[in-house]
Amino acid sequence: MGIHNDYSERNYVNPAFPHFVHGADYNPEQWIVTKEIWGEDMKLMREAGCNEMTVGIFSWAELEPEEGRFDFSFLDEIIDMIDKNGGKVILATPSGARPRWLASKYPEVLRVRPDGTRIRFGGRHNHCYTSPAYREKVRIINTELARRYSHNPAVMAWHVSNEYGGECFCPLCQEAFRGFLREKYHNNIDELNHAYWARFWSHTYRDFSEIEAPSEYTDTSIHGLTLDWKRFVTHQTVDFMKNEILPLKAENPDLPVTTNMQYDFRDLDYFQFRDVLDFASWDAYPRWHSGDDALTASAAAFWHDFYRCLKNKPFFLMESTPSLVNWQEYNKPKKPGLDTLSSVQAVAHGSDSVQYFQWRKGRGSSEKLHGAVVGHDGSSDTRVFRSVRRTGDILEQTDEITGSGVKAECAIILDWENRWALEDCQGFVRNDKKYIETCYQYHHVMWSRAVNCDVVHPHDDFGRYKLVIAPMLYMTDSGTIENLSRYVRNGGTLIATYHTGTVDGTDLCWLGKTPAGTLSDVFGIWREETDTLYPWETGKIIYLGKEYAVKDVAEVIHASSAETVGEYRADYYYGFPAVTRNSYGKGTAYYQAFRDDGCFIRDWLPEIMKEAGVAGNIPNETEFPHGFTAHSRQSGGDLYLFCENYSDSPVRDVHLGQQYIDMLTGEKRDTVSLEPYGLAVLKTDLASRS
Ligand code: GLA
Ligand code: ZN
Repeated sequence: MGIHNDYSERNYVNPAFPHFVHGADYNPEQWIVTKEIWGEDMKLMREAGCNEMTVGIFSWAELEPEEGRFDFSFLDEIIDMIDKNGGKVILATPSGARPRWLASKYPEVLRVRPDGTRIRFGGRHNHCYTSPAYREKVRIINTELARRYSHNPAVMAWHVSNEYGGECFCPLCQEAFRGFLREKYHNNIDELNHAYWARFWSHTYRDFSEIEAPSEYTDTSIHGLTLDWKRFVTHQTVDFMKNEILPLKAENPDLPVTTNMQYDFRDLDYFQFRDVLDFASWDAYPRWHSGDDALTASAAAFWHDFYRCLKNKPFFLMESTPSLVNWQEYNKPKKPGLDTLSSVQAVAHGSDSVQYFQWRKGRGSSEKLHGAVVGHDGSSDTRVFRSVRRTGDILEQTDEITGSGVKAECAIILDWENRWALEDCQGFVRNDKKYIETCYQYHHVMWSRAVNCDVVHPHDDFGRYKLVIAPMLYMTDSGTIENLSRYVRNGGTLIATYHTGTVDGTDLCWLGKTPAGTLSDVFGIWREETDTLYPWETGKIIYLGKEYAVKDVAEVIHASSAETVGEYRADYYYGFPAVTRNSYGKGTAYYQAFRDDGCFIRDWLPEIMKEAGVAGNIPNETEFPHGFTAHSRQSGGDLYLFCENYSDSPVRDVHLGQQYIDMLTGEKRDTVSLEPYGLAVLKTDLASRS
């Protein structure tokens, strides 16, 4: 369940530092033999308007050069320097990469591949999460770090490890997986066999000891097993993370803990991180300029919205590049304006930080060409440095926004387990189910209408939303069915789509009419068939006299109590309902039986929002100029409006519907004009809004 924010007071990540954080990943140990660079860095940090550095992420070999021999001198010195320069430190635990001695002495810390071969020392995030030796070594170094630094006033938060991810198929992990299943299925192998439909192809288990992790070398036909393995990988990662956090909290329970999560990361169900972290943070590397930047921006916004909702409080943008990355196929710098705009975008969606990877470009190894605030020229006289400085100025001018919340009347449901089940299922389109892309599609319509939107778990409390959208909720367990039904019964407006309510929480198909259980009543329909369209096929529907294209999926449904508002106009289901509306309890449930190319929901969703009483951040009847959007944060009586232009053309005179103070120029304004990739941050009091 999400934690509710009533927006009445500020909610700071660390109340001891109630300001925006502007900083970067900093690896001073890479410059330990040319230490004059450290002094230069301090000067440049002040010049860039940075007030924070994240250190220690990959420093284990420096901090514990030999087993049990610790040397914190470099960290002591650098934390002291940052402190003396008025900066704060986010201190990392070093488990993201281990020293060579550790892997040589305890080979079990290294991962095993599905084929049973153990990976040799190398890379970074290559560790077994189950290994008692690794957990113990991490516990020891984290204890040392916590004792030494967790009461240092310069240290404002912990950054545990780095981008947790990956799986390990070693005997220890296999045994832990069996233990996880024993607990889940009450040590009853028949219960597991039933949940896995294991009689299929004679795969019945006689005992838990026969279970092996699914892979190309074992079994991928038992969908319940694959789903449970993914759940286990998240469970084991979270368990490892808890082991990391324990010694930190033992020394100072008040120092907040986060870990840096990633953009559209399939492998871990981040909702399970919710209760373990004090605040969320993530690394945003969208592929800017690879197509329509408005689409790239709204997809990035989707993840900002998710990370805000994870803890229902301000999150941190822990990493972003001030220019380019080095790992995409085409590594393109951000165009002028976009660095600041994409940084402020995070803030608009609820981030209280803008942080970069990395502060200074290393000279060698694989990230030497990755963008950084300071390049190999060591100069501040660069386009990139100036844009970081500009972002720093904006954060300073708008610092009072820190700790405020985002109020959204709409939510989109995101569910990792559903995604895993859907992508694993053999049916429909075999390989390209487009789950996340479909979530983005709905989110984009709200984004382009300047409507704040939350991204929530299917079991969250939806009571505060006027509209909830549940794209492709193929796997709906009984808790989700009950939660959705209750929401509509109590007066909510729900939109769901094709695939809803097909399998239960163990990936067994629901029997009887679908959408399963009470959902058939909620939507007033039942599903008979699903047509999968070839990529070159386009179907057709009609809604309010206008025809729209059908792509990929068309369900043949029957309306029981629902009213048909859109109808198929092609194929053997010509005349069948394609979009339905049903009253259920005090609420309304819409069902969209087909996938469109975005044109239908662009027209339809604003109608539903209007009917549900959803207000955008700027009142308007038509669409804004392409690439324009606006998002808001609020707290107490203050409302902050961020206007953003993700296009390379200027935007002129958008009417705001009321007067605001421009926080960057001090002017009063009731219209806004923006440069290409430009932005404005405006303020008003909430009372003047109504
Ligand atoms: C990730 C990692 C960083 C760095 C960047 C490069 O976000 O956490 O250490 O490798 O990618 O973009
Ligand atoms: Zn392992």
